Amino acid sequence: MGKSYRIAVVPGDGTGPEVIAEGLKVLKAASAKFGFELDLHTYDLGGERYKRTGEIMSDETLEELKTYDAIYLGAIGHPDIRPGILEKGILLTLRFSLDQYINLRPVKLYPGVDTPLKGKNPEDIDFVVVRENSEGLYTGAGGVLKKGTPDEVAIQESINTRKGVERCVRFAFEYCRKRNKEKKLTLCGKTNVLTYAFDLWERTFYEVGKEYPDIKTDYAHVDAVCMWMVKNPEWFDVIVTDNMFGDIITDLGAMIQGGMGIAAGANINPQGVSMFEPIGGSAPKYTGMNIVNPLAAIMAGQMMLETLGEDSAAAAVEKAVMTVVREKLKSLTAGRMGYSTSETGDLVAGLL
Ligand code: IPM
Ligand code: MN
Repeated sequence: MGKSYRIAVVPGDGTGPEVIAEGLKVLKAASAKFGFELDLHTYDLGGERYKRTGEIMSDETLEELKTYDAIYLGAIGHPDIRPGILEKGILLTLRFSLDQYINLRPVKLYPGVDTPLKGKNPEDIDFVVVRENSEGLYTGAGGVLKKGTPDEVAIQESINTRKGVERCVRFAFEYCRKRNKEKKLTLCGKTNVLTYAFDLWERTFYEVGKEYPDIKTDYAHVDAVCMWMVKNPEWFDVIVTDNMFGDIITDLGAMIQGGMGIAAGANINPQGVSMFEPIGGSAPKYTGMNIVNPLAAIMAGQMMLETLGEDSAAAAVEKAVMTVVREKLKSLTAGRMGYSTSETGDLVAGLL
């Protein structure tokens, strides 16, 4: 008998439930094949429920979610609800309360997938972004004065603590060592302007780096990182950066690896409960049409397997996804795949 994992499933809004259904199909196929059990518990959270009940997420639900082995999340966001309410009330609350201080986002172009980068191939686009996920501009620090008047003041502060920066940087060094590709870690910052925050980052980065003599260290400003990600993505192995820059560069990363249809991420608390999600949003305009690409959700499930320690299952899922994109799908874009959402899930599950 293999292990058994208690997983909280939060399908969420828009196309979230459709893609999570396919992710679960694949995870169940993997559990049958590799002999582990999945004890799945679904939570109804998101915009629809908020509209229906007026509740975003209760403290009780939050406490319950802390007891799982992992959380598998579809998408949070609803066109009828003002931006920020659900994002802060659910997604960011989960990341912060569960202290998921790492957001791990691989950027990998699979063979057969189109990239908008002319002349770039799978061997050129294969790096991982380690995004700090618990501090920076995301903490909600700051405030507003004299709102709605000509004298309005709005302050939004970036919080960077030695402890928070160090644990992130350390994770990135460890990850880079384990990944064992080029063993090169690039700090993405803005030391020429954000002279307090990124001074802390830079000092911490090089100090911690002394403990990892096998890892090459490099630094680039965030604007330059955007340039190199397009011009020379092959220069990157692992990139470590703060919350805001990580948010921005990983959307760029998703595009060069073939789009939101394939991009997955993991919100990791190495000592606690981690959460896995496709990084594209709820795609309201495609909801219920069975045309969006479930591979990002499937790959989020793949990252969950890897984090749970089911390495062979994780490797098999990635291999199946690679086969499907190489041999079956015409495109990774919603509506142009040549297969529906559920057929795509069937293809991956079938290969397991
Ligand atoms: C992401 C998203 C979130 C973020 C939003 C929805 C709050 O863009 O996961 O990248 O900014 O972190
Ligand atoms: Mn984002």
